Amino acid sequence: MLIFAQISDLHVRPHGQTAYGVDTNAMFADALRAVRALAPAPDCVLVTGDLTDCGLDAEYEIAREGLATLPMPVFVIPGNHDRREPFRRHLSRSYRYLDHDRERLDYVDDRFPVRLIGLDSLVDGETHGDLLPQQLEWLDAQLIEANGRPTLVFVHHPPFPTGIAAMDDLWLRSGDALGRVLARHSGVQRLLAGHYHRPITALFGGTLAFCAPSIAHQVALDLAPGHRTRFIMEPPAVAVHTWRPDIGMTSHLTPVKDHGPGFDVVLEADYPGARVGAVSVHA
Ligand SMILES: [Fe+2]
Ligand SMILES: [Fe+2]
Repeated sequence: MLIFAQISDLHVRPHGQTAYGVDTNAMFADALRAVRALAPAPDCVLVTGDLTDCGLDAEYEIAREGLATLPMPVFVIPGNHDRREPFRRHLSRSYRYLDHDRERLDYVDDRFPVRLIGLDSLVDGETHGDLLPQQLEWLDAQLIEANGRPTLVFVHHPPFPTGIAAMDDLWLRSGDALGRVLARHSGVQRLLAGHYHRPITALFGGTLAFCAPSIAHQVALDLAPGHRTRFIMEPPAVAVHTWRPDIGMTSHLTPVKDHGPGFDVVLEADYPGARVGAVSVHA
């Protein structure tokens, strides 16, 4: 089984500073601890954008040092809170897949039986995302080459509307075109995103699109039209995507906070499925 951990929207700040009053650096450290504690260990970690809050050099160094504590390969893509030039400069030293001369920081990695394709949807100075026509052509070529092999595509901005009005203005504006590319190919197991700071699932482009929550602050679920975005300190979580040839891909969320050890399932005697004196592992 392959295990892909996904952390999103770190919003790292310079030492001693917060984002929106939230100690995102402390929450980043907690999330790293949670990923390192996963057993079995993930085969790799996907970091789906907004590594920093302001794209500052000091922030990238903290993000880089933190991610370096993960013993498995790490795959990063930028979000709207990142700045492409310092992102590339600070992180390509650690992550050689960023060290290319294409305008956007897209890449493909084939070290696993599941092909990984990272897409850079950052539009300089904007909050919404976009993919250039040449990125969509490049993605199409990667998927043709994959020839139906299982593939994970990840991009910061979700390409589907959610009903959370204030966030839907900030989505991936080339989403329809991305959907048409994905729909032309089999084998795309997931389209993974972040940005909305909530766990959200939708069918998109013939695959399952999954938006991971932030490992820091979340966006409050408010489906009323015309509301303003509000942050809320709901529990941060790590997404864990598993893949087996006989099952395909499953996606889980596990909270960053340690909720204590698991305990054995001992059925109540009145449970309809209980047999007297039996101990069952069935939930
Ligand atoms: Fe974010
Ligand atoms: Fe974002």
